[in-house]
Amino acid sequence: MSKLYVFDHPLIQHKLTYIRDKSTGTKEFRALVDEVSALMAFEITRDLPLEETTIQTPVTEATTQIISGKKIGVIPILRAGLGMVDGILKLIPTAKVGHVGLYRDPETLKPVEYYIKLPTDIQERELIVVDPMLATGGSANDAIHSLKKRGAVNIKLMCLIAAPEGVELVQEEHPDVDIYLGALDEKLNEKGYIVPGLGDAGDRLFGTK
Ligand code: PRP
Ligand code: URA
Repeated sequence: MSKLYVFDHPLIQHKLTYIRDKSTGTKEFRALVDEVSALMAFEITRDLPLEETTIQTPVTEATTQIISGKKIGVIPILRAGLGMVDGILKLIPTAKVGHVGLYRDPETLKPVEYYIKLPTDIQERELIVVDPMLATGGSANDAIHSLKKRGAVNIKLMCLIAAPEGVELVQEEHPDVDIYLGALDEKLNEKGYIVPGLGDAGDRLFGTK
């Protein structure tokens, strides 16, 4: 069974409140998603392995630590996942970025894939799939299947807000994928929106309707 982490850091919770607030405009929404994504990246990388290295400080030689092991790939699910990329890259500037384009059919709520472009070495990377919303879970589930079909073996899923239904689907289909959230909300409504949620993440991020 995959692990579920809900980040309780006060800065993440504080900023999520303003992200959820419907009076927050596009410019501020974008900035807040960027900031929360960076804070979540800080938490998600907590267990990266370190190795020793020797350097010269201005004073002496010193044995210190650097990150070792697998390189990272960030995989936003288009569109809304794009809003999380820059915040993560601020902390992990050498990460490669792959894109999975999916939209949710408004009638069936089923995801439709329209684009995929990935780094060539995804099988060697620790991949962080990012999307602000995990609602029915259909989009994240399909995106992860697509990545696995192309050789990915080490995948984490990071979302700002999730519904229990989405978490359950991803955990059932992908017991090897740990899930990292800013908040686990109450439920989905009849239109498949997360309650209380934040509304339509793509529209709020890009100012569309
Ligand atoms: C939103 C969101 C997720 C998906 C979540 O995207 O960014 O990708 O819905 O819903 P699910 O868990 O039920 O699949 P949307 O389909 O609205 O596309 P967009 O990002 O292009 O607006
Ligand atoms: N997609 C969104 O953007 N918001 C939701 O609440 C559910 C799916």
